[in-house]
Amino acid sequence: MKMNLQPLVEALSPHAGKDPRDGFARDLQDWFGGTVQAFLYFRGRVALHALCRAIGLGPGDEVVMPAFTCVVVPRAFQPLGARAVFIDIDPQTYNTQPEALLAAIGPRTRMVLVQHTFGIPAPTARIVEACRGRDILVVEDACHAFGTEVDGRPAGTVGNAAFLSTQWNKPFTTGLGGILLVRDGDLAARVQADRASLARPGIPLDAELAVLQLAHAALVTPRTHGWAQQMYRALTALGLVTGSWSNDELAGPLPPGYFCDMGRAQAMAGRLVARDFASNVAHRRRMQQRYRDLLAGTPFAIAPDPPGTVLSRYPLRVANKQELLDRAAMAGVEVGSWFETPLHPMPLSRLRDYGYELGSCPEAERAAREVINLPISVRARESDVERAVRFLSRHGRPPA
Ligand SMILES: Cc1ncc(COP(=O)(O)O)c(C=O)c1O
Repeated sequence: MKMNLQPLVEALSPHAGKDPRDGFARDLQDWFGGTVQAFLYFRGRVALHALCRAIGLGPGDEVVMPAFTCVVVPRAFQPLGARAVFIDIDPQTYNTQPEALLAAIGPRTRMVLVQHTFGIPAPTARIVEACRGRDILVVEDACHAFGTEVDGRPAGTVGNAAFLSTQWNKPFTTGLGGILLVRDGDLAARVQADRASLARPGIPLDAELAVLQLAHAALVTPRTHGWAQQMYRALTALGLVTGSWSNDELAGPLPPGYFCDMGRAQAMAGRLVARDFASNVAHRRRMQQRYRDLLAGTPFAIAPDPPGTVLSRYPLRVANKQELLDRAAMAGVEVGSWFETPLHPMPLSRLRDYGYELGSCPEAERAAREVINLPISVRARESDVERAVRFLSRHGRPPA
């Protein structure tokens, strides 16, 4: 594969004339039609943390949020002293149910998180309306939902603010990365002021991420995904590369350097993808339709498709999740397992440490046992989709 490395080499140089971070933030603002201000961070969770800092979230405050997510989401505010109030998900859409969310709001609620799981839009405008004038910030977790439309508007522009992740397997990737979108000018000014205390990735980390991105671009396809992921996890465990999370951010105070800017290599990758945002979305729409057509002839339930849905992964329920994941790894078929517990990747026995009571969100717990997901990204071709469905039809068992 022929690759032009020059733009990345230029981008990494601290003496480079133009900072790609400024350009990428502008690309995003343009994509969202100038309705939001975009701020870049090292990861999606850091974007949420930045927002929580900017509104002064602290002890005694509550954040209402869905179970069936990553533990790094509540960890973005729990170290500030705020408490998570978990609500169950809709078993069809895996999303926040407005009724449950509104019922969980109490006198101490300062923020509600509305998650568009797998890119399926969660009704948000109704929640915004109900929270108006109540000093409660409605924040969209749009980490899976780049390109999705929510209540007729781009996901990420309906709530007061939103955060997106551009980690490896998200709708588009910059390796690791996070984006905060803010609608309100005063709030954006507070976010901007707080950026004075952001750490910046040094050149070694920037270079590491550039190398990982090149390796990802050259080597990772749905067929190679399984072993590439194992290799990445092994290198992370050995402390040789930066992983999707580190143990020291999952307990106690957040580690130094957590509140960190996006690096140049990440932003440069973002600029390259931004040229093709429209085709990224169009591709995923096509793959999503292909799955629907192929699955129509199987006993597996077709993913929900409310208007505006643009999936990041194709979710399905199976009765034999673990067996299927093991077989897929052997067969070189990319089958994902978001989320393995209501607060992935923490085992059920440790969820109480994060304020989650076992049994309190039964649908989230059932989804964690049953839901797998199939690839849909720009790296997945039609033949990968066909292969994944063939594999599922052969080895998967639909839930009773
Ligand atoms: C729904 C959801 N929100 C937030 C995050 C955190 O994103 P990041 O890894 O960029 O911090 C994830 C990560 O996978 C996620 O799935």
